Amino acid sequence: MKKEWKFGTELDKRTQQELIRLAYEGKERSYSPYSGFEVGAALLAKNGTVYLGCNIENAAYSVTNCAERTAFFQAVSEGVTEFQAIAIVGGLKGSKSGELCAPCGVCRQVMMEFCDPKEFQIILEDGKGGCFAKTLEAFLPFGFGPGNLKKKE
Ligand code: THU
Repeated sequence: MKKEWKFGTELDKRTQQELIRLAYEGKERSYSPYSGFEVGAALLAKNGTVYLGCNIENAAYSVTNCAERTAFFQAVSEGVTEFQAIAIVGGLKGSKSGELCAPCGVCRQVMMEFCDPKEFQIILEDGKGGCFAKTLEAFLPFGFGPGNLKKKE
């Protein structure tokens, strides 16, 4: 699912909260019959579209796709490859909402492929009723990305 972004591009608190709310909307579609851990993501593209994602599990467990990658792959499959921020929420089905749910290493690597690590913001709930944003670089220091494969002049 995707939405048109109606708010400013400034990642102020209100914007962060709105992206968290959209991540919860993504989480409603979580297909997680094996772990019971439901995750949702809301990925804000630079063109002002928000792509929602959920985790999609599989009876062959390793085939599972995380919510973050679901959102990225939907966007990229539509030709959108420039992003500003992603909000991620998750927790065990039935547990109280608001817990911190950090992106796994594989998803951080996918972010590294498409996002500037110094600019792209990852927005999480803090487990205390609030949320915060940090750069991809803070989550994946010394990350390996497309730049590493370019010839140095
Ligand atoms: N999961 C995500 O969707 N995103 C993450 O970054 C962490 C893990 C999902 C995968 C699996 O369906 C469930 O959470 C438990 O690992």
